[in-house]
Amino acid sequence: MTDLDEGSMTFDYARYLAAKTTVDDRALNRHVLAGLRRLMPAGTPRVLEVGAGLGTMVARLMDWGAVGAGEYILLDADRQLLDDSRRWLRDWAAARGLRSDLRPDGLQVGDLRVRLVHAELGEYLEAAQGAQGEPADLVIANAVLDLVDVPAVLPGLLRLLIPGGVYWFTINYDGESIFAPAHPHDDLVMRAYHRDMDERVRYGRPAGESRTGRRLFHHLRDAGAPALAAGSSDWVVSAGPDGNYPDDEAYFVRCILSTIQNALRSREDRVKPADLADWLAVRARQLAAGELVYIAHQLDFAGRSPG
Ligand SMILES: C[S@@+](CC[C@H](N)C(=O)[O-])C[C@H]1O[C@@H](n2cnc3c(N)ncnc32)[C@H](O)[C@@H]1O
Repeated sequence: MTDLDEGSMTFDYARYLAAKTTVDDRALNRHVLAGLRRLMPAGTPRVLEVGAGLGTMVARLMDWGAVGAGEYILLDADRQLLDDSRRWLRDWAAARGLRSDLRPDGLQVGDLRVRLVHAELGEYLEAAQGAQGEPADLVIANAVLDLVDVPAVLPGLLRLLIPGGVYWFTINYDGESIFAPAHPHDDLVMRAYHRDMDERVRYGRPAGESRTGRRLFHHLRDAGAPALAAGSSDWVVSAGPDGNYPDDEAYFVRCILSTIQNALRSREDRVKPADLADWLAVRARQLAAGELVYIAHQLDFAGRSPG
């Protein structure tokens, strides 16, 4: 399972996204990233990242030398997260000796102007249709497209790009979660959780699909923007030889377990409460002992907008 949404949480979502950073750092597919670098226009690009959360991707892309100047828009439906992103990005910049200055609509980080846009994606795309907004050179969605109705959203998202502009859609969940060692209720729990993902509604719209990754190949082709690079970006989290998980990754896995619990606690028709409680208790004990391995299968894509 992946891409926790905030509808039902009992944990600190900003901390979850910060903890996810090192997991994503390892997972992001380097072949697809190399494709993105090849496709990127020269000069100072205008980047739009949808569902940007805390803004960890802009920091990563600066660290990796993929973005350094120009404009980078962080769009998210969660105002609190966008507010948090100012502080998170300032702390990140300070730790690297990079100058940052707050601005009314975001902040300046080195030569990059970061703008914060508070909007629900579907509403934003509807408003953008026919409007004369400045198009983007690059659109990014990281751990987001499995939280929205892709066939409904994708054409509008691609229309935000200049003709031939570039997309990078990463960490798209693809229907496989592995918790090791195996537990007799694994299949039952994950089947029920995937069903919950498939039926989820947020902001009054269908919100997610448990096999988004594999379906994106065809959705992108149908939208006239077939993938030019694709590859897996699985999350793999395990403890080191000392039994400790790296960085804040134990918290990351705890959030994953909480989300499964939240999604299934009222679905007694799908998983009996005693079975769910047993599964969660065993997983929590294994996590505390540094024995739990968590793997989620995901896919990354890069390509060009139609035209
Ligand atoms: C799993 S988080 C990923 C955040 C960030 N991209 C990252 O990888 O750290 C999903 C983000 O998408 C945002 N989101 C979910 N549905 C959205 C929608 N319909 N419109 C705008 N933002 C949305 C959430 O608020 C959240 O910040």
